[in-house]
Amino acid sequence: GFSTAGLLKETGHVAYDPGFMNTANAKSAITYIDGDEGILRYRGYPIEELAANSSFVEVAYLLIYGELPSGSQLDEFDTMIRRHTMVHEDFKTFFSGFPRGAHPMAVLAASVSAMSTFYGDSLDPFDDHQVEVSTFRLLSKVPTLAAYAFKKERGEPFIYPKNDLNYSENFLRMCFGFPTEDYEVDPITAKALDTLLLLHADHEQNCSASTVRLVGSAHANMFTSVSAGINALYGPLHGGANEAVLNMLRKIKEEGISPEDFMEKVKKKEDGVRLMGFGHRVYKNYDPRARIIKKTADEVLGKAGGDNELLEIAQRLEEKALADDYFIERKLYPNVDFYTGLIYTAMGFPEQMFTVLFALGRMPGWIAQWREMIQDPDTKIGRPRQIYTGEKLRHYPGVETN
Ligand code: ACO
Repeated sequence: GFSTAGLLKETGHVAYDPGFMNTANAKSAITYIDGDEGILRYRGYPIEELAANSSFVEVAYLLIYGELPSGSQLDEFDTMIRRHTMVHEDFKTFFSGFPRGAHPMAVLAASVSAMSTFYGDSLDPFDDHQVEVSTFRLLSKVPTLAAYAFKKERGEPFIYPKNDLNYSENFLRMCFGFPTEDYEVDPITAKALDTLLLLHADHEQNCSASTVRLVGSAHANMFTSVSAGINALYGPLHGGANEAVLNMLRKIKEEGISPEDFMEKVKKKEDGVRLMGFGHRVYKNYDPRARIIKKTADEVLGKAGGDNELLEIAQRLEEKALADDYFIERKLYPNVDFYTGLIYTAMGFPEQMFTVLFALGRMPGWIAQWREMIQDPDTKIGRPRQIYTGEKLRHYPGVETN
């Protein structure tokens, strides 16, 4: 039992900390961030080294199990993920209940929540085997569900997974393939997607990861907890920044504003205009993921029908900002979202899919954090305090006094 009254008496006071800016709710050995230095490490490995040498699936293993896999462990893990990619056929009727044009992120959240109805044999948070099975089910089936959500939005036929393809190739084919045509996966696009997923794989405590932990602290199963995380990520302040960057770049292009003039508006804070994709609550230095993504942007956009004019505007804005005192003084650097929207667009994804791709990438982090939370003997059901500001005591008036 958790006695709130007891806690209050013991400490004598409650910390008022909106947004939990200074409150740690977890001890975690998964991801390390030093925002001032621009450092991001998964299980101690620098993100730069992982992005250059590893893959999304290997990083998923690292985040979830704590160590890099041996060759045979990686093979086995990868095989298990490929083996679970099919979703129950009845899931298709579930999808047909949504209206055409439904936002794919809302459909993804609902379908991941529904996984606990389809996969009732892996819901026990304290059964190690069941936890393993639901781990594989989430990693394998969420790309299939995400692609179905995409196809649903377009009114196109679903494409079944093809398990001789790797994670990113399979996902691209399920999104852009047609039953009547062979779909050839472009290796540069698949590699770029893999890198982007890897860079999003975890980011310690944030609105969605903390939501997964909070919901899971009530011993909700992994599917339910992760679907809550997806819903949190759906919020524009969390998962929607890359869309905002793209809108900004399009507006600059369409209105024919020069990047220089736009920067002047930003610096004067005209109409509250901000340089979207710059600044970060934690990183007061270059977001280490942004550097890596910039290279990917050059590769993907340089190659395939991307909008190079938007890329040029982005590059000029970045160049200007990095040399400008306004941004230097405030420690505003490009964040991970500055280039991702451009890359996803060049890959053929509409804006509604951006947060879905984010969710796909963040899956290993949510799973790893849920598992860490469940195993931690210090975990308590999440139960923040409040400062009550309402009426002290009132008495219900009799009808006749009204
Ligand atoms: N462009 C122009 N000025 C900015 C920007 C920006 N992008 N970001 C912050 N500033 C200015 C503020 O106006 C403020 O100036 P002041 O000191 O003169 O008042 C100062 O920098 C500090 O800003 P805060 O809002 O206090 O910084 P905070 O750390 O709270 O905000 C945030 C971080 C929300 C990300 C902010 O930088 C922002 O709005 N950026 C643009 C949106 C964006 O890209 N968000 C994605 C973040 S990454 C992610 O969520 C995955």
